[in-house]
Amino acid sequence: MRAPEPALRSGLRWRLTLWVAAVMLVSALAVFAVVYQDTGAQLRSQIRHDITDDTGQLAQSLRTLRAVSSTEVSAAARRYMTALPYRATSTLVFTLVPGAATVSNVPEAFGADRPDPGETAADQHRENEEGRSLAKPRPGYFTLPLPDVGQTLILERPVRLGQLTAVVGAGEPLTTVEQAQHGVARAFLLAGAAALALALLASYLAGARVSAPLRRMAAIATRVNAGDLAPRMELAGRRGDEVRVLAEAFNHMLDRLAEAFGSQREFVADASHELRTPLTVIRGQLEVLAAQEDPSSDEVRRVERLLQAEIARISRLVDDLLVLAQADQTNFLRTEAVDVPSFVEEIWDGISLTADRRFELGPVPDGSLQADPDRLAQALRNLARNAIEHTSEADGVVRLEVQPMDRIGLRFVVTDDGPGIPAPERERVFERFHRVDAARSRANGGAGLGLPIVRAIAEAHGGKVVAAEANGRGARVELMLPGFAGQGS
Ligand SMILES: Nc1ncnc2c1ncn2[C@@H]1O[C@H](COP(=O)(O)OP(=O)(O)OP(=O)(O)O)[C@@H](O)[C@H]1O
Ligand SMILES: [Mg+2]
Repeated sequence: MRAPEPALRSGLRWRLTLWVAAVMLVSALAVFAVVYQDTGAQLRSQIRHDITDDTGQLAQSLRTLRAVSSTEVSAAARRYMTALPYRATSTLVFTLVPGAATVSNVPEAFGADRPDPGETAADQHRENEEGRSLAKPRPGYFTLPLPDVGQTLILERPVRLGQLTAVVGAGEPLTTVEQAQHGVARAFLLAGAAALALALLASYLAGARVSAPLRRMAAIATRVNAGDLAPRMELAGRRGDEVRVLAEAFNHMLDRLAEAFGSQREFVADASHELRTPLTVIRGQLEVLAAQEDPSSDEVRRVERLLQAEIARISRLVDDLLVLAQADQTNFLRTEAVDVPSFVEEIWDGISLTADRRFELGPVPDGSLQADPDRLAQALRNLARNAIEHTSEADGVVRLEVQPMDRIGLRFVVTDDGPGIPAPERERVFERFHRVDAARSRANGGAGLGLPIVRAIAEAHGGKVVAAEANGRGARVELMLPGFAGQGS
């Protein structure tokens, strides 16, 4: 099957870049809005403060002059603005006196001194309208577009001077606020654009860096999918680094995969080899029979016996292979509480009938074991069969001991007085198809699957099996299982 092309191109890089851009943009806009508003608010409050001060000073100076008639007030106001040292910070200062002309430091604002050069009649008419609107007393703060000045924040407050109520006012153009806010916007635009460009570049590069190993991994996975198990990720970066941990896990997984494939291949090759031997014998015998024109009935029976033996060997091999194939599955075991004394006795009686040996059974502890009785019996039979095969007829000793272990486990020990298993072979005898003396084993019909099956059964129970050092001569194999509840404990 063709491996599909990995769909991982550069999505991660772009997604990361877009995310950074979006986050930066939103946060920059929020900061900008706050700074923009705040700058405006601060300047406005400064302007309010200034015009309040100026109107206060003007009112104060009119009061101290004790002017009471319109003309006196007008004159006093004019003096304040021209003759007196002019201290006001406001652009526009004025006094509205009922029955007299408005006094202001910017007379044009009130429609005087018209027209300016270049102004049309319409301009002048509009400006006069604005001037009239300003000359109408309206105490408090308000904004008004003034000719040649623009939007202006104005404060007018009435001042009682004897019988007369004059209105003093001051105004400051709001253009400074706008200019400051434009300045903020410009600065933000420049700095923001530069920062955004830098952040985009950085996140694109970071994204490329992060996604590079992922893309390499995808490429390797594609090759693995196509059947090539050799490539591995190179381990860059510090130990514990996420990408490195991922690469290590990935390589480890590939190692395991290669190992599993290898052992599976080996297993199939070994199994085929083991099956081929009896099949060759069967074919050879049938050919011998077919070559005879009129075979005797003795000859036919001899061939039949041989074929039966070879077929039995094949059946056992197939049964064993099936058990090993099932051992990894979750429903391999059907555990139940097994009464240890009656179970062991029954098994051992059965085994004792299969051969002529001195079968010995040590004391068996009372209690029950959580186990699959059929699989446990199969494991014990495999161990006993090995002991029988390696001891001499009649006087060979085959012994089973059952001992409680660590209070919650049970140990089955099968010993014999045969040649024993050589120490360097004690681990390898549990490998599939491994035999210490292949020629002899094969003669006995052994394929080297007995002990691997015992190990698979032990491990499925959460236990283990080991070939141990015997006391004296012979072999000693220990099968240890958890799940024992001793009587009275
Ligand atoms: N009690 C024993 N004494 C001496 N050698 C043993 C004993 N039990 C096992 N072995 C050695 O370990 C090897 C593996 O044993 P195992 O039971 O897996 O295979 P087998 O007996 O050869 O074949 P099978 O059990 O499939 O019929 C045997 O071939 C034998 O060499
Ligand atoms: Mg065996």
